[in-house]
Amino acid sequence: MSNPIIRFDKVNKWFGSFHVLRDIDLSVQPGERIVICGPSGSGKSTLIRCINALEDYQEGTLTVAGSVLGDKLKAIEAVRRQVGMVFQQFNLFPHLTVLENLTLAPVWVAGLPKKEAEQIAMAQLERVRIAEQAHKYPLQLSGGQQQRVAIARSLCLTPKIMLFDEPTSALDPEMIKEVLDVIVSLADQGMTMLCVTHEMGFARAVADRVIFMDEGQVVEENTPDAFFDAPKTDRGRDFLSKILGH
Ligand SMILES: Nc1ncnc2c1ncn2[C@@H]1O[C@H](COP(=O)(O)OP(=O)(O)OP(=O)(O)O)[C@@H](O)[C@H]1O
Ligand SMILES: [Mg+2]
Repeated sequence: MSNPIIRFDKVNKWFGSFHVLRDIDLSVQPGERIVICGPSGSGKSTLIRCINALEDYQEGTLTVAGSVLGDKLKAIEAVRRQVGMVFQQFNLFPHLTVLENLTLAPVWVAGLPKKEAEQIAMAQLERVRIAEQAHKYPLQLSGGQQQRVAIARSLCLTPKIMLFDEPTSALDPEMIKEVLDVIVSLADQGMTMLCVTHEMGFARAVADRVIFMDEGQVVEENTPDAFFDAPKTDRGRDFLSKILGH
């Protein structure tokens, strides 16, 4: 096995007195596809937000793409350049066109010339199959299209790792597939990804591993088929019976 691209080593985090992440040990290999699931409040978002330093942690060590994330600004900047993140809410700027949303960070943060940033942006819009919408404003697009734009925006900074936090849960059912298809195609191209989702079909089709969290702990780690067909723990069984009951 090669070196892990992400490694949590006994990571603990508190919000005030609330112990939100407990002794997290988790290694992710380059190109690996991980799905994270678990009940509401179990710490899934907090865990993946630690990976691009949107959250800090108090104990243990988290190494991402060769940098140890602590409070060192240099490490945070290095990691943010390598990690893209897509949220449930698309967080596009409504007063900017799709193309302007995509070129904003490359021009103002990465310092690319505008023409070059636009070329990259158009290529990424092609990749998520939405290039024809480049000159529209986000609110003129469907939710599924907006989420694909948000994915393209992340890709413009050529991340090595993509984090998705329930990327389809704000979408109408008929738009879920178009977004998942884009994520699947990224997976097929070898992107390292961690995706918080309860979309079981997607997890079975794409994930190398499912991580099941409860109360701030990684309770189970297994292949999707093994986890969904025969969870090892009562907590895993209980969780699956609830999401299958809907
Ligand atoms: N900034 C914060 N300050 C204090 N507590 C927080 C903060 N963010 C999250 N929490 C708490 O930490 C716990 C874990 O939150 P987190 O958002 O990681 O859960 P989650 O598994 O993503 O849940 P969901 O499925 O609802 O998105 C929750 O109890 C939440 O209330
Ligand atoms: Mg969450």
